[in-house]
Amino acid sequence: MNSIYQAKRYRITDVVEQTGDNIMLRIKTRLNPKPGEFVEVSIPGIGEAPISSASYNNKVLDLNIRIVGNVTEAISKLKKGDKIHLRGPYGKGYPIDELKGKNLILIAGGCGLAPLRGIIEYIDQHRLDYREIYLFFGFRSPDDVLFKDEIREWEKVYHMNLSVDEAMGENPFNCPVGFVTGILEKAELPVNNTEVLMCGPHVMMEKSIRILENKGFHDNQIWVSFERHMKCTTGKCGHCMINGMYVCIDGPVFRYDEVKGVDE
Ligand SMILES: Cc1cc2nc3c(=O)[nH]c(=O)nc-3n(C[C@H](O)[C@H](O)[C@H](O)COP(=O)(O)OP(=O)(O)OC[C@H]3O[C@@H](n4cnc5c(N)ncnc54)[C@H](O)[C@@H]3O)c2cc1C
Ligand code: FES
Repeated sequence: MNSIYQAKRYRITDVVEQTGDNIMLRIKTRLNPKPGEFVEVSIPGIGEAPISSASYNNKVLDLNIRIVGNVTEAISKLKKGDKIHLRGPYGKGYPIDELKGKNLILIAGGCGLAPLRGIIEYIDQHRLDYREIYLFFGFRSPDDVLFKDEIREWEKVYHMNLSVDEAMGENPFNCPVGFVTGILEKAELPVNNTEVLMCGPHVMMEKSIRILENKGFHDNQIWVSFERHMKCTTGKCGHCMINGMYVCIDGPVFRYDEVKGVDE
């Protein structure tokens, strides 16, 4: 019997080095998590890590992995054709169906872009269901920009706002230098009939929320994604708990008014 709690083996069909410390794995599977959901990726004998889906289709699953420790380091050594274990998908993602008919503002910092790439793939496939799409993506430097090819495509069809914190050498996107929140502050955005979806470092999300509030957005128009250490991913072990909520089953995506003020 198929169970989302049981890890199964899948074949890696591609490994793309994105930046010095990020790789993207393409895995042949029909799992197709919804935007914002995640899978547990494991290597027997080493461990497992929750990783967000960075795609939306039922042929392959793209996972962007930032190499930070044991498990992610081991995953980064895998090659095209190798097998990897996945279980899931888990969690509650962005309520993409409920957002039909709205303008969407997507805000990401660094590898927070990974789950938002899944949403953009979803929007591409259901373009007529949504109104204007505004993208605000910030990276540390031009070398750290993820999904470069996709960004070049997105800027043709969506309102793209890209920034890098610093550009010591070349700046191939010719984008503004500074925090993405600086661009957000200056942007003219529709407030009515608009929802905001964000993922990235806590400080970036907090600053973005203050800016949006000053522009007149309400907390119930904003959706945030949380990262927590996880073990069971099924609401049993309590590892991921924040203020009575389990990030693994009640999140990782929450409407901001429901989590405002929780200890991050
Ligand atoms: C729902 C969810 C989705 C995620 N999606 C992605 C993704 O798409 N791409 C990606 O690269 N990473 C993602 N992560 C983070 C990823 O799971 C961790 O980086 C990974 O588990 C680290 O494992 P490790 O053994 O390599 O490092 P470890 O040795 O376990 O940790 C290395 C460092 O990272 C910190 N760390 C580890 N896990 C977390 C965490 N969950 N929250 C905060 N700090 C942590 C540790 O404290 C330590 O400082 C996600 C996490 C969650 C909870
Ligand atoms: S990871 Fe065990 S309760 Fe969420």
